[in-house]
Amino acid sequence: MRKFILIALVSVFFASTSLLADSDDSKPGKKKVAIKPVTDKIYLEECGSCHFAYHAELMPESSWKALIEGLKTHFGEDASMEPAPLKQVTEYLLSNAADYSQNSKARAMFKSAKGQVFARISEVPFFLKEHHEIGPDVIARPKIKTWANCEACHPTAANGVYGERYIVIPK
Ligand code: HEC
Ligand code: HEC
Repeated sequence: MRKFILIALVSVFFASTSLLADSDDSKPGKKKVAIKPVTDKIYLEECGSCHFAYHAELMPESSWKALIEGLKTHFGEDASMEPAPLKQVTEYLLSNAADYSQNSKARAMFKSAKGQVFARISEVPFFLKEHHEIGPDVIARPKIKTWANCEACHPTAANGVYGERYIVIPK
């Protein structure tokens, strides 16, 4: 009976520590701050129509500025928009950029960029570091196709949850 109680206690302990680990933030003893899910309707509509609506927190402000300035020739597409939604989208991206995030992964993205401007989240050094184990053969799989397809491997990405335990890499 004693043994049973001990096992029960131990499993409660592990269940609660792994719940804490659900957050994207991993430094022990530090307050964990999650990546905020996107709630801006205009952003979701305008920037989520061709692909996943990326979190502003995952790229520095200077990169988002450059991206906004280049929307007319955006990765071979014309992604330009009317002044009102453009203003809203710009505000969302710039005020929620990695520069201002308290999430440890977003902070690491910001630091690793070292002030350089990037066209893609998937080119920022910390992104490359986190994903270095995945080869081009995996990306080429029909259900993935491109690094830009975050949700292919991070099905919970829309909630700002990218943690290892939620990753499913399509075969
Ligand atoms: C007309 C379609 C279209 C719209 C609208 C659009 N995009 Fe894109 N975007 C693309 C294409 C195509 C790519 C390249 C995807 C790839 O590499 O497979 C891309 C790539 C990106 C990437 C790079 C992803 C990576 O690899 O890290 C970012 C960031 C991005 N878009 C942000 C935005 C934002 C922000 C908006 C809204 C202002 C937006 N996009 C609107 C078509 C679009
Ligand atoms: C081919 C599958 C795949 C794609 C596509 C992919 N990722 Fe990942 N991602 C992974 C793997 C695997 C890891 C590493 C998990 C680990 O070792 O902790 C990871 C780690 C991460 C992490 C760190 C998570 C944490 O808390 O430790 C973030 C943030 C992240 N990815 C964001 C993105 C974003 C944003 C995109 C799209 C621009 C993307 N990923 C595309 C597979 C993928």
